[in-house]
Amino acid sequence: MQKILVVDDVELNRELLRYILEEEYTIEVAADGKEAIQKLQESQGETGAVLLDLQMPRMDGFAVIAALEERGWMQRFPVLVISGEYSMEVENRCLELGVSDFIHKPFGTSIVRNRIRNAMELFATRKKLERKVEEQAEALKEQNQIIQRQAEKLRHEKSFNRLMMEYRSAIMEVETRLKVLNEEFSQEYNRNPFEAIKSRLKTPASIFEKLERKGYPFTLESIRENLTDVAGLRVICSFPDDIYRLAELLTKQDDIIIVRKKDYIKSPKPNGYRSLHFILSVPIFLSDEKKYMNAEVQFRTIAMDFWASLEHKLKYKKYVRSADEIVGMLKDCADSIEALDYQMQEIRNKIDRSRQ
Ligand code: GTP
Ligand code: MG
Repeated sequence: MQKILVVDDVELNRELLRYILEEEYTIEVAADGKEAIQKLQESQGETGAVLLDLQMPRMDGFAVIAALEERGWMQRFPVLVISGEYSMEVENRCLELGVSDFIHKPFGTSIVRNRIRNAMELFATRKKLERKVEEQAEALKEQNQIIQRQAEKLRHEKSFNRLMMEYRSAIMEVETRLKVLNEEFSQEYNRNPFEAIKSRLKTPASIFEKLERKGYPFTLESIRENLTDVAGLRVICSFPDDIYRLAELLTKQDDIIIVRKKDYIKSPKPNGYRSLHFILSVPIFLSDEKKYMNAEVQFRTIAMDFWASLEHKLKYKKYVRSADEIVGMLKDCADSIEALDYQMQEIRNKIDRSRQ
């Protein structure tokens, strides 16, 4: 049987509660706050709930709540206030202080029984959930450490470093081809089809995290076959039509193979994300062989890139307050950015036409 501590200065109330509850619980009593704290000092580990009166001599209910909070005991068992106090303000204050329920005097037998049972069940369920979340967080941390260790080990392996060198070469290869196109454009048409190229090689930890998440084996072949974004390039253009022109010029080169194309500009993601994505297979030329490597190339306008970096922050922050609101605001921004991109393009077209 679980133990309930009844704290009330009126003996009749204590005995009434004992009478109602003693079939289901072991009842302990205290005649005021001081006595309650003393009793809990010895038995808070076994206490299943505390029923607390507010008006008591020596130490009243609020002082008891403060003392429980100070000792961290409000998280151990539910506290239910049983009081003749009828002001909403007092009831609200109790609930805000973490009291599980507020029962008004005089009370009915079954109401008291049910409310206590519910409060205890709810409290126990919450505790169980909290424990589960803690366990999962712990497991995740461990898994992460394993991944970090494996990544660290591989970082020093020659074959892994060679693979990374090959991916770096693929980045250089694509970068050079884009730069050549840029040169040609600025000579021929006096304009640059892109503003900037950003490139990144996936870190060993991130490679392993992804293999683990997708259930792929931890081998070099597996990285080569299953991960298409170890080499990543982001091409930032001024206008949407530059994106398509440049992508077309790059991908139609006779030794580049399009493995996959995703057009999030024509079909934006529900969150508002827009970009043109390719997985390309590009040749690199080594001392004794020609080898095809995968590279992920994302084409975006400046505005789309600005949006994506802000949105990325939201995705990787675990607990963002008012996340729903932020998601909505980001979607609105994405819509404005889309309109803006095409308006700017229209202006540029007008300027170009007026020059001719
Ligand atoms: P990943 O396994 O996450 O790489 O996704 P995927 O293989 O389904 O490919 P996808 O083309 O959808 O996304 C590739 C990359 O585009 C991601 O790794 C991000 O860098 C970027 N990306 C895709 N969707 C979003 C998005 O909603 N927001 C932002 N900020 N970036 C995105
Ligand atoms: Mg990716």
